[in-house]
Amino acid sequence: MDKRRMGPQHFLNPKPVVLVGTIVEEKPNFLTVSWLGSASANPPTIAVAIRNVRYSLKGIREHLAFSLNLPTADMVGMADYCGSVSGATVDKVKACKLSVFGGNLRAAPMIEQCPINMECEVLQFVEIGDHTLVIGTIRETYVAEECLVNGMLDIEKLRPLCLCTTSSGLGDYYSLGEVVASISAQQPLASSPPAAVNIPPHGA
Ligand SMILES: Cc1cc2nc3c(=O)[nH]c(=O)nc-3n(C[C@H](O)[C@H](O)[C@H](O)COP(=O)(O)O)c2cc1C
Repeated sequence: MDKRRMGPQHFLNPKPVVLVGTIVEEKPNFLTVSWLGSASANPPTIAVAIRNVRYSLKGIREHLAFSLNLPTADMVGMADYCGSVSGATVDKVKACKLSVFGGNLRAAPMIEQCPINMECEVLQFVEIGDHTLVIGTIRETYVAEECLVNGMLDIEKLRPLCLCTTSSGLGDYYSLGEVVASISAQQPLASSPPAAVNIPPHGA
C-alpha cells in the first residue's frame, strides 16, 4: 500500500458525539464534544478533551462535576447547534427546548431527550497544549427503557451519532452501519494477547 506522509493529523475515526453538561453561572449548559474516550474500567473513568477557552470548562472547574449525554442520530441538529454556539451568549437549553433532569450530582445536569446519560465527578485535570483533558469517574448511568432488550443495551435501538473528520475543521456526521462480527470473548481488563492465537508474520 503506497502511503503519503500528511503530518500529525487527528484521523482517529469515527468519534462519538456526546453532549457534556455542567452548570455555568448558575445555569445548565451543554457543549458538544467528540474528543473523548474510556480511560479506566475500575474505577469507571472517561477522559474528555475540552479546549481551554470553552465557557463550559469554567463550570466544570468550579463544580468538579459534569454529565455525558448521548444523542441519537436523529438529534444531529441539536448536537451540531450545541457545538457551534456558546452558552456565554445563548441559553442552549431554551433554544433547543431541552428537558433537563438532575441525578445525584448537583452540577451534572442531564438531557432527558438523550437515551443515555452519565453523571461524572472530576478526578483530575490534565493541561495539554490548547486543551484540558478532563478525567472523570462515572458515578451513575441512566438508560432509556426503549434502548434495553432483556435488560441489555441494544445499540441498534440507541442509534448513536458519530463524527468522522478528514482534515482540520472538515467532517461529517454518521449513524452506524451494519454489524460485521461479534466480539469473540469478554476482554480481560488488563489484556494481553491469548497464547493460543497465532499471528501470521507481516506480509504472509
Ligand atoms: C461535532 C462537534 C464536536 C466537538 N468536539 C469538541 C471537543 O471534543 N472539545 C471541545 O473543546 N470542543 C468541541 N467542539 C466545539 C464546542 O462544542 C463548541 O465550541 C461549543 O460552542 C462550546 O460551547 P460553550 O461555549 O457553551 O462551552 C465540538 C463541536 C462539534 C460540532
